[in-house]
Amino acid sequence: MGEAARNIQGANVKSESKFIGALRGVKSEAPPMWMMRQAGRYLPEYRKLREGNSMLQMVMTPELACEVTLQPLRRFPLDAAIIFADILTPLIGMGINLEFKKGEGPVIDNPVRTAKDVDNLRVPEPRENVGYTLDAIRMVVSELKGKTPLIGFCGAPFTLSCYLIQGESPGDLEYTKGLMVGEPEKWHALQMKLVKLSADYLVAQVEAGCESLQIFDSWLGFVGPREYDRFVEPYLKALIEDVRSRVSVPVVFFATSVAGLFPRISKLPVDAFGVDWRVSLPQARGLLGRDTPLQGNLDPQILAGPWEYVRSSTKAILDEAKELPSHIFNLGHGILPHTPVENVERLVEFVGSYRA
Ligand code: CP3
Repeated sequence: MGEAARNIQGANVKSESKFIGALRGVKSEAPPMWMMRQAGRYLPEYRKLREGNSMLQMVMTPELACEVTLQPLRRFPLDAAIIFADILTPLIGMGINLEFKKGEGPVIDNPVRTAKDVDNLRVPEPRENVGYTLDAIRMVVSELKGKTPLIGFCGAPFTLSCYLIQGESPGDLEYTKGLMVGEPEKWHALQMKLVKLSADYLVAQVEAGCESLQIFDSWLGFVGPREYDRFVEPYLKALIEDVRSRVSVPVVFFATSVAGLFPRISKLPVDAFGVDWRVSLPQARGLLGRDTPLQGNLDPQILAGPWEYVRSSTKAILDEAKELPSHIFNLGHGILPHTPVENVERLVEFVGSYRA
């Protein structure tokens, strides 16, 4: 049993699943697998439900969020479910207007730019703010009947700030970095609000039945090491430490394009790291310098390509993962809408029949 394994108490762990086992450092021949954005537009049944409902309606209607969460599990024998929501939905209760626009992604028409904007942000309680997601979690957990663990998640304070401040796809982070280095006190105030919002949200997801948590820091790769140390790490640590002091489920940290930050990121008190495809798993392990379970890391664009190439890339990843303390197979980022469902079917079958 590895270091990660000893740190987790079983209090919140209902199913002794392969996925939770791997996060605790328990190795199995074929690794457990799930896919980021596994509920999504590559599935015809998702697109069908989506025709009559906006993204936000789907997230805010517990029956729909529950149904969409379960869709990929009906098709494929995946080892974990992830609750259907978005990292940005908890921001709505802070007082921001969020819309998902076709072809553009998320748009916030009242972005946070001034000290007054930061002061005006509310930090509502999870029950009041995201009761719909907590209800959806309870429904999913009851449907899963302890057979498959459910993952809860949030956006990291930095990545949430990027969307809040830029107001659209973060791009070059002009306003975000402007505020960060130009008005560090205002940055600090914003981070503290996001830490409180996200810590309470993660804890509430566990209380509703999630057996593991993932923190997404998708835009972290745009930050250099000095800014990471000063403007990012303190808040990430505060968030993770607060959550860990209140619940005992395994926590995964995921970011992209952060190989250069791995020696720093490895100090975060989490159980596992999600790795994108830009580094190999052994390279990631070396840079992290810590024997931790790793999750990843097939390039989603490759999964959308010819099967023979998918197969050989997947085999290479599984072979490389043999030297890790444990491995959770996943994509290096979210599955893409144009991915053939058949490739996913074959991938799940291939990973499931792999023998180390
Ligand atoms: O299946 C799952 O993984 C659970 C649900 C989930 C969604 N978003 C649903 C979603 C999760 C975990 C997320 C995380 C998320 N959302 C992140 C972090 C991970 C990452 O991908 O980097 C980020 C940065 C977001 C913000 C976001 N939401 C963007 C940039 C977009 C537009 C891009 C896109 O793929 O359309 C979204 C929309 C979104 N979130 C969709 C889904 C299924 C597409 C909704 C639709 O149009 O039907």
